Amino acid sequence: MALKCLFFVSLLVVGLATPLAKAQLGVSLPGLIRIQGTLFCTINGNSVNGTATPVFPNAAVLLQCGSGNTVVASSITNTSTGQFTILLVTSEFLVSSVLNNCRLLVNTTLATCNVSLGTGLLSSPLQYIGNTVQGLLTITDLVPLVFKLLL
Ligand SMILES: *[C@@H]1O[C@H](CO)[C@@H](O)[C@H](O)[C@H]1NC(C)=O
Ligand SMILES: *[C@@H]1O[C@H](CO)[C@@H](O)[C@H](O)[C@H]1NC(C)=O
Ligand SMILES: *[C@@H]1O[C@H](CO)[C@@H](O)[C@H](O)[C@H]1NC(C)=O
Ligand SMILES: *[C@@H]1O[C@H](CO)[C@@H](O)[C@H](O)[C@H]1NC(C)=O
Repeated sequence: MALKCLFFVSLLVVGLATPLAKAQLGVSLPGLIRIQGTLFCTINGNSVNGTATPVFPNAAVLLQCGSGNTVVASSITNTSTGQFTILLVTSEFLVSSVLNNCRLLVNTTLATCNVSLGTGLLSSPLQYIGNTVQGLLTITDLVPLVFKLLL
């Protein structure tokens, strides 16, 4: 509580300073965690090397965290590219916590994109690939490690 108060007071002080002074103080602005990937219409959701693999369009990709697999965010894969993007703010989510405690769950069965692939669901842990700096904003990029059929 005392810490929170101190933080708030610091914010107020910084808020009064000029933008230049802000930069000089090295104030860390809220950042983003960007979880991005492409889902393919294959038995394991991954691309097949050397062939034009069809993508998995309109699939619900959920970000689930903790032992209860609580859904904290979601995205739908792009109709033409199979790509999905989930954005989180670092003021609410710690990168390390997301990496260690969260997973992606595709809550649309594979049969939706190809009936011969069955009714399984895909899941993948997350992997850190780096940071992207856009102006004053730092974006932490996470991607699916590898999708697997959930048993
Ligand atoms: C894909 O094929 C290329 C060329 O044959 C090879 O160099 C690469 O290691 C392969 N990647 C995977 C993931 O199998
Ligand atoms: C899907 O991807 C295409 C190509 O990148 C883009 O033009 C389009 O806006 C995307 N659709 C949605 C709903 O994001
Ligand atoms: C997953 O999909 C099922 C079936 O469509 C639905 O009932 C359920 O609410 C979905 N779960 C989440 C967390 O969206
Ligand atoms: C559907 O999946 C089967 C089994 O993997 C594959 O042989 C077939 O080519 C797929 N069909 C399409 C349209 O991708």
